Amino acid sequence: MYDHADLAALQASSLRMQEWIRRQTYSPENEKLLRRFSAWETAEFILRLPLAELRAALAADPDLPRGESEAGGQPRFSLEEIGVLRERLHGPKRPLLPHRPRGKRALRAAVANFKGGAGKSTVALHFAHAAALAGYRVLLVDFDPQATLSHAMGLTEVEEDATVWGIMARDLALETERMNAAAAGAASGTRPARREVPEAVREMGLAGRAPEDFIRPTPWPTIDMIPSCANAAFVEFATAQYRHLNPEWSFFAGVSRFLDALPDDAYDLMLFDCPPAIGYQSMNAVFAADLLYIPSGPGYWEYDSTTSFVGQLAEALEDLAEGREAFPTGKIALPKTFRDVRFLLTRYEPGNDLHAAMFEAFRKVFGERLCEHPIEHTRAVEQSGRFLCSVYEMDYRDMTRDTWKRARRSFDRAWGEFAEAMRRSWEAIPETGAAGRGAEDAA
Ligand SMILES: Nc1ncnc2c1ncn2[C@@H]1O[C@H](COP(=O)(O)OP(=O)(O)OP(=O)(O)O)[C@@H](O)[C@H]1O
Ligand SMILES: [Mg+2]
Repeated sequence: MYDHADLAALQASSLRMQEWIRRQTYSPENEKLLRRFSAWETAEFILRLPLAELRAALAADPDLPRGESEAGGQPRFSLEEIGVLRERLHGPKRPLLPHRPRGKRALRAAVANFKGGAGKSTVALHFAHAAALAGYRVLLVDFDPQATLSHAMGLTEVEEDATVWGIMARDLALETERMNAAAAGAASGTRPARREVPEAVREMGLAGRAPEDFIRPTPWPTIDMIPSCANAAFVEFATAQYRHLNPEWSFFAGVSRFLDALPDDAYDLMLFDCPPAIGYQSMNAVFAADLLYIPSGPGYWEYDSTTSFVGQLAEALEDLAEGREAFPTGKIALPKTFRDVRFLLTRYEPGNDLHAAMFEAFRKVFGERLCEHPIEHTRAVEQSGRFLCSVYEMDYRDMTRDTWKRARRSFDRAWGEFAEAMRRSWEAIPETGAAGRGAEDAA
């Protein structure tokens, strides 16, 4: 017979194994570091210019970053150095800086589906890395207490009050204060009763915490993260309790309000990884998102589950704004709309007839909403996962170069389509005057 203590012992044994894997992988520094990139990779896969052109530019200008040689080999560039090269080599003939509309806040995208194992975290991780390599500044938000994305970004020591759960509890405290102040200021003689902030939330002092306190750096200099941890699963129970204490609390807009408080020009892309469920955390993610990306495996049951997800989400979004008093939604307008919704097939095998048939079925049903380029099933993802990293982080010298290139191209094509959707959605969102050009544009 097995009880909770046996389960705890099994977990402890597994945690020791994970710790060992991390030590082996991140040795000798014992923390995740971003590798350097060869001149070939920098030219052809990152800056997208011929290697000869990069070499010529380096030869012509001694002030450009030179990279560093590892063990006497060719010089390799850090991402910071690539950032300098991008700025310095950018010009009308050679536009190397990524598209970023002026005066607008960061574009927000949620990767969501309630089908487990659909590839959400893999897509979020690879798009974040592709975006950073393209020159964007990214804020990743892990809404999933499985914390796959946090662990993949090297963040493993995370307390639950530093996760989306802490952000939601903080929002409850701030919103309750706001509602009480509004009620106290109302002229009417029939004031609603004062709402209480739960003692546990008050004791944590979350209301006094600055938004920046929740944001952690990662091994990528241009990617920051709000990580998650297993204890954040508690949010699903706690939120139900909090709603009971303050039924008017717009719990689904908490993270959106939090993101509103960050400076508009601090990031270009905010990318959300969702848990395989429609719950309080995923509702916060989709509510905050301009762009909804729905990955699905290429099998019938994944299609079946994706269909249910879309239906559930439709119902949940319809219910959200009903029967509530006015509440601040910040930079998200009501009724909630997405600037774009896209379906993306993952783990796709180009030579597999069944996958091709599912691709056609998806296209028939979802039309243009289906991404043209599925993400291929590749051993490179399995192999890089073993090293706790993405295909972008994996050095091509550590696997067959063809396997690396094929995987890289597949993610690059999918990223290219995402970047295009991001560009169109960005055009449609109103200017906020981030660059000092305040404007109300009803898009
Ligand atoms: N393109 C791919 N090629 C090979 N394996 C893949 C690919 N994409 C995802 N996988 C594998 O499939 C599994 C599930 O992927 P992932 O964790 O990204 O799914 P998820 O939707 O985030 O899962 P969950 O619902 O549990 O959060 C992982 O083991 C991952 O390594
Ligand atoms: Mg996941």
